[in-house]
Amino acid sequence: MRALLIDPSAPRGLRLGEAAEPTPAANQAVVEVKAISLNYGEVAGLQGGQAGEVNGWDAAGVVVEAAANGTGPAVGSRVVTFDWGRGWAQLRAVDTGQLAVVPDGVDLGEASALPVAAGTALQALRRLGSILGRRVLITGASGGVGRFAVQLAAKSGAHVIASVGSVGRGDGLRELGADEVVVGVDGVEAPLHGVLDNVGGPNLARAFGLLAEGGVIQSIGATSAEPTVFEPYATVGAHRRLESFRLDGKIADDLAYLAGLLDTGALDPQVGWRGGWESYEDAIEALLSRKVAGKAVLDVA
Ligand SMILES: NC(=O)c1ccc[n+]([C@@H]2O[C@H](COP(=O)([O-])OP(=O)(O)OC[C@H]3O[C@@H](n4cnc5c(N)ncnc54)[C@H](OP(=O)(O)O)[C@@H]3O)[C@@H](O)[C@H]2O)c1
Repeated sequence: MRALLIDPSAPRGLRLGEAAEPTPAANQAVVEVKAISLNYGEVAGLQGGQAGEVNGWDAAGVVVEAAANGTGPAVGSRVVTFDWGRGWAQLRAVDTGQLAVVPDGVDLGEASALPVAAGTALQALRRLGSILGRRVLITGASGGVGRFAVQLAAKSGAHVIASVGSVGRGDGLRELGADEVVVGVDGVEAPLHGVLDNVGGPNLARAFGLLAEGGVIQSIGATSAEPTVFEPYATVGAHRRLESFRLDGKIADDLAYLAGLLDTGALDPQVGWRGGWESYEDAIEALLSRKVAGKAVLDVA
């Protein structure tokens, strides 16, 4: 089968080539992949892996072999899938606890945008507790996680403050439900009930200083690649927390919920770049140079 393979000698560390077809475990369905979405963590060199391996977290397609243990959907079902690898290929064997059926009205490319980005936004927001009527800051709001987080936080009744890197990157965020769009954390007023932080760096320390008593930051990512320095005593005093976050991969129920939101139009997939998978270099370039508003999706031929 065709796959995007790790190749350290290639310009983006990837090449389209041939890989062995997967052999499914009893709890895995085999899916013919129709679309994949790219995530910052996969294309910024954070994931690692050996030459010749297939990476890729998000993929949507059609079940061509149901799981032998009887779990999961039947052959012919349209599904969105997640795993920490092996998604960028024409066939993926995936645990039935890590996929969900995609409603007929939802495009598979748009569904492929969901797992890591929307799953992270959903799970991280839950960690803030009730946000009804509360002020929530989302950094990196222009990106994949950020655009889903803005929508889900607004839907949950929060006062949403969307933080971006430059004015133009804030386009469209008010329409998605942001009450305020700010550059960095300039002008953000205390108190914040919660923060979803995708960017790290100096603004993470500033955001910590804006937390209400009992407030919490979910540290999701660090795209700024800058250190965070806390001034002496900045972390002392009223009870505030900085929590590390990692997506829980047993995500079937969350994926079903999110795909349902796409179906009713309650969630917009925010696909800001789409093309054939042979154009993967262009997609990666656009994502890493902060030109994609939301998600980059590749159609798999
Ligand atoms: N912990 C987990 O389980 C988990 C899950 C998913 C994602 N993540 C992490 O979360 C982060 C966001 O992921 P994503 O998929 O949403 O990425 P993305 O779509 O590429 O968005 C990243 C955002 O970060 C901002 N950014 C990039 N470089 C920056 C810089 N030098 N300074 C300030 N802001 C910068 C950009 O906003 P502007 O262009 O507006 O500046 C961009 O919109 C990544 O670090 C990723 O690894 C972690």
